[in-house]
Amino acid sequence: MSNNKFTVTAALPYANGPLHLGHVAGVYLPADIFVRFLRMKQEDVLFVCGSDEHGAAITLRAKKEETTPQAIVDKYHSINSKAFEDFNISFDIYSRTSKPIHHETAQEYFKTLNKKGSFIQKTTEQYFDEEYQQFLADRYITGTCPKCGHEEAYGDQCENCGSALSPTDLENPVSKLSGKTPILRETSHWFLPMNQHEDWLKDWIKEGKFEGNQLHNPKDWRNQVVGQCMSWIDGGLQPRAMTRDLDWGVKVPLEGADGKVLYVWLDAPIGYISATKEWAAENGKTWKDYWTGDRKLVHFIGKDNIVFHAIIFPILLKEHGGFVLPDNVPAYEFLNLEGDKFSTSRNWAVWLHEFIADHPDKVEELKYTLTAIAPESKDSEFTWKEFQTRVNNELADILGNFVNRAVVLTHKYFEGKVPERGELTAKDKDVLAQLKEFPQKIDQLIMQYKLRAAQAEAVNLARLGNKYLAETEPWKLAKTDMERVKTIMNIALQITANLSLAFKPFLPQKSAKIAHFLNLGELNWDKAGLDNLLDAGHAINKAEILISKVDDTFVEKEVEKLEASKVDTNSNYMPQKETINFEDFTKLDVRVAEILEAEKVKGADKLLKLTLNTGLDKRTVVSGIAEHYSAEEVIGKKVSVLMNLAPRKIRGVESQGMILMAEGPDGQLSFVSPERDLEIGGEVR
Ligand code: 2FM
Ligand code: ZN
Repeated sequence: MSNNKFTVTAALPYANGPLHLGHVAGVYLPADIFVRFLRMKQEDVLFVCGSDEHGAAITLRAKKEETTPQAIVDKYHSINSKAFEDFNISFDIYSRTSKPIHHETAQEYFKTLNKKGSFIQKTTEQYFDEEYQQFLADRYITGTCPKCGHEEAYGDQCENCGSALSPTDLENPVSKLSGKTPILRETSHWFLPMNQHEDWLKDWIKEGKFEGNQLHNPKDWRNQVVGQCMSWIDGGLQPRAMTRDLDWGVKVPLEGADGKVLYVWLDAPIGYISATKEWAAENGKTWKDYWTGDRKLVHFIGKDNIVFHAIIFPILLKEHGGFVLPDNVPAYEFLNLEGDKFSTSRNWAVWLHEFIADHPDKVEELKYTLTAIAPESKDSEFTWKEFQTRVNNELADILGNFVNRAVVLTHKYFEGKVPERGELTAKDKDVLAQLKEFPQKIDQLIMQYKLRAAQAEAVNLARLGNKYLAETEPWKLAKTDMERVKTIMNIALQITANLSLAFKPFLPQKSAKIAHFLNLGELNWDKAGLDNLLDAGHAINKAEILISKVDDTFVEKEVEKLEASKVDTNSNYMPQKETINFEDFTKLDVRVAEILEAEKVKGADKLLKLTLNTGLDKRTVVSGIAEHYSAEEVIGKKVSVLMNLAPRKIRGVESQGMILMAEGPDGQLSFVSPERDLEIGGEVR
């Protein structure tokens, strides 16, 4: 029967880009393993996640892709939710913060806090981009971090040293919109006076104490989490604005707050609550049961999210009342890739959806490697070479090899039936004693969020099995002492059955495969460690391949692919634009035309007004080439012209198309002309 109740959350990823292996290793995979283990122990557990669809991360991405925020979140919510599904992450719900239920929940929450007087409304000076007529909060502004000197710190946080910042803390602030230095302008916002919460936060984070109760054992929290929180609190918490002047987000539900939305870091964690509500409504449950009483709330996050989950969200939960505080906030350090940080802008990443598409048969091999190197206490690194080594030397040589031998030998000597056990030797007894111990070791490690070590214990069990077979050598005894072989193989099969249990939270599909080889039904954790999971006479199935080895060509190809797709952000060349389909391409009508006349446009140094013979007609095109070509020298030249560009008025002259130009690294422009002397009007395609 279940003793404990858990609500487990995994940080809502921004729907502004695809997920890479760093996200997976440092949040979603460990959260999934933890939850799968709780389910095996038949605990009452709810696992929630969803897309974070607000904030500057989304709107800036939309600007970059020249589309709308809605199009961005639709695109990446769909890519990411599918990737999670294909990677077999077992969320009970994967919601999104654009849903009406979330907007309502977040607005109600804000109103409740506002009524209780949890906020202070203040008018302050904030940075403002005059060109874009917009206030610049969070990621809309960058500058030099006052704490560590990092030149690309955001207005809300320095990703280099982890400090929480306000835009006005930045030195040399620059607008992300116009690239210009912003001005200061007054605006009014609702602030959370975090400074008023320092005392109780200290007691809670350092001692686990809250309002006279011992809520958690502070030793269970990771050192980095407690350390980071205490350094913020000791440095003095500052009031933080909980609203923003933006038009994308959850509208502030108060009179006189037009043009203002909730701060994304107020709305996103409330997303965990809205997702619970949505799931409960669909499953006939009461959502409050998952956020009150003796429920343990566990937030799996990356280290850059610590302040929001261990300080700001707990303040919001306490101020609202009627919610539990987090029981633990297991935060992960960062995963690096082949000697460098993961980087979206440089395309230095292994994207989860691409890995799955390329290697659908290696999904759990990837899970295994990512757990083995998970950045639990310090940053770690993924390399394709290590992937190969882990899969070949551990999964294949230890787990795969043992399971295969146990199943194959049972077929060879006993027609696929589990043999009876005879008298036990000292070695047998020792092995069975060790078998009995593994569940407690794994249990303890998982409940302390030490999943690397827990998975290593599962591998140790396979190691134990290999060693047992190597030392007892049933293939030799088969010639002389079949009774002894029966006992050995019975024990080897009991270990195999236990391997299916031990690996189930980590590699559910491999675990199911092992169970299938043994013709074994669904088992829960209470059976782990037992040496009678298979009765004598029970018929097992044939072995199939459990783990395929990774060869050198695989590694070489992946490393090459990574290098080839890397974008050099220091290069003078523009990064490649987004892929378009063939249909988009065929919409362009480009033809060879001849320049008949040319003259400078009055009052514009850069522009020439050209008259073209396009074969179809004579038309006027205004082109920004006057600094590169004189009017005289262009007459008679054959050029490429984009014919079907909508006409535009430039300096009072209607331009009916665009001349294609090639640009050199120094900015010099040159016509794109046919290499042979073609007829006018020829199509360029
Ligand atoms: O860092 C991030 O990707 C955020 N979108 C995490 C949000 S977690 C929560 F608060 F929802
Ligand atoms: Zn810094």
